[in-house]
Amino acid sequence: MNNKHLKTLTLISMTAALAMTVGCGSTSSDATASSSNASAKKLVMMTSADYPPYESHKTDGGSDQIVGFDVDIAKAISKNLGYELQIKDVDFNGLLPALQAKQSDFVMAGMTPKPERLQNADFSDMYYEAKNTIIAKKGANLKTEADIKAKKVGVQLGSIQEGAAKKMEGVNITSLNKIGDLIQEIKAGRLDAAIIEDTVAKGYIASNKDLEFNTIPQTESAGSAIAFPKGSTLVGDFNKELQKLKDSGELDSLIKKWFETTN
Ligand code: ARG
Repeated sequence: MNNKHLKTLTLISMTAALAMTVGCGSTSSDATASSSNASAKKLVMMTSADYPPYESHKTDGGSDQIVGFDVDIAKAISKNLGYELQIKDVDFNGLLPALQAKQSDFVMAGMTPKPERLQNADFSDMYYEAKNTIIAKKGANLKTEADIKAKKVGVQLGSIQEGAAKKMEGVNITSLNKIGDLIQEIKAGRLDAAIIEDTVAKGYIASNKDLEFNTIPQTESAGSAIAFPKGSTLVGDFNKELQKLKDSGELDSLIKKWFETTN
């Protein structure tokens, strides 16, 4: 069912670069032709592109691309390992089933390696930490679990925020597929609040001045790691590359690029 929403959105072809490095005589400008070259290996990444600054759609003069922190990390790692990268967009709730069905080589979606998920996927080391917040209309002043008791609270279907909300007493939960839909429901007054991680909440607040967010004290980590099908041999390679990005300061530069906005 999610498959019909599956769209191949980005094909980052490294083949042109490869052809130049290898210097194989006539340089073809046809990326498809050169990608049939035996040396062009491809990795398929799945994500849920409703999660800026980790991943979101960017439309530039008619062309639709998925961009973000996760995408930049995935590009850097794939490039260093000598792969082409293809990115597919799927609802968050469909990511792990698709991964288990081997429809992708890895998932990067600001995904937290929760114990339940470890049964169905292998995870890389963490590459970013985050916390949960309560996002609501400006002035609502909802700060703690107690404040949202008996309120209508939205969460993303299949997310750890949904899990966290279910553990809270007396919260009236609505689970939706897309973060953007949660925001719209709050603005329309059909939801009192939503639980969303801090970095993502910050971005939505910046473009929706009628909303505010408060970090929930003492919640579990909502940090991110890369998910692979169980037993994938890519995990070790990805961890090595992640470590290199950490050591070289490249990861810090990407954190600055995507998370340290001036609003
Ligand atoms: N970190 C949370 C989780 O793993 C939420 C991630 C949502 N990601 C997304 N691309 N919508 O459950």
